Amino acid sequence: MSAIRISPRERLIVALDLPSVAMAEDMVARLGDTVSFYKIGYQLGYAGGLSFAEQLAKGGKKTFLDLKLHDIGNTVGRGVESVVKLGATFLTVHAYPQTMKAALEARRGSPLKILAVTILTSYNDDDVREAGYVGTARDQVRRKSEQACALGIDGIVCSAEESAMLRPIAGPGRVLVTPGIRPSGSASGDQKRIMTPAAAIAAGSDYLVVGRPITEAGDPKSVAEAIVAEISAAAER
Ligand code: C5P
Repeated sequence: MSAIRISPRERLIVALDLPSVAMAEDMVARLGDTVSFYKIGYQLGYAGGLSFAEQLAKGGKKTFLDLKLHDIGNTVGRGVESVVKLGATFLTVHAYPQTMKAALEARRGSPLKILAVTILTSYNDDDVREAGYVGTARDQVRRKSEQACALGIDGIVCSAEESAMLRPIAGPGRVLVTPGIRPSGSASGDQKRIMTPAAAIAAGSDYLVVGRPITEAGDPKSVAEAIVAEISAAAER
């Protein structure tokens, strides 16, 4: 874990991977005070979700815009200036030097934190080679993370299996944000490398991103409460 103090409740980020703002509003209402941090990605973002994210931030929630930006520096920088106005807390960019430099420069003086996506967790060693990289997926995650940290990135999105390797690289001041979390007993879906909330905290992750185990549950609030309790117990150890 980083040295940054974060409450157990705030460590849980719920992925609002839903097709409409109406469904997202309903989910946020059902989760109430149990959840304070929401991730909005392509699906909801391209369906009115960016205005919804702005409303959430105005209403006191934290937002993570998982937009995975990557373009020429000028375009990235202007995009980030618009994201700053939405009041977001986290924004993802792909871990390419020009992209990261432009994003960090554009958010300067704002509370927005830029997170780097190194190698997507759906890529295995063969996929990494096919994409033109040398070495294993893990080698590339390490190399890209070192580069991101040298450029002053605020945090890294990584699988919990990578958190232990990345903590010494990230140091205590950067955050490690981990999807692929499954409370014991819940369906893994298409996630292959999964960890329980307690194991991910023990591995050094700061924030846990959980989508379907909460959003597809009959009682999302009670599942979210159980995850917060598990995070709380693990963080005290
Ligand atoms: O529903 P589930 O808990 O699998 O959702 C995980 C969320 O984290 C999704 O929004 C997915 O896009 C995102 N994510 C991921 N793996 C990554 C990066 C992001 O699953 N490496």
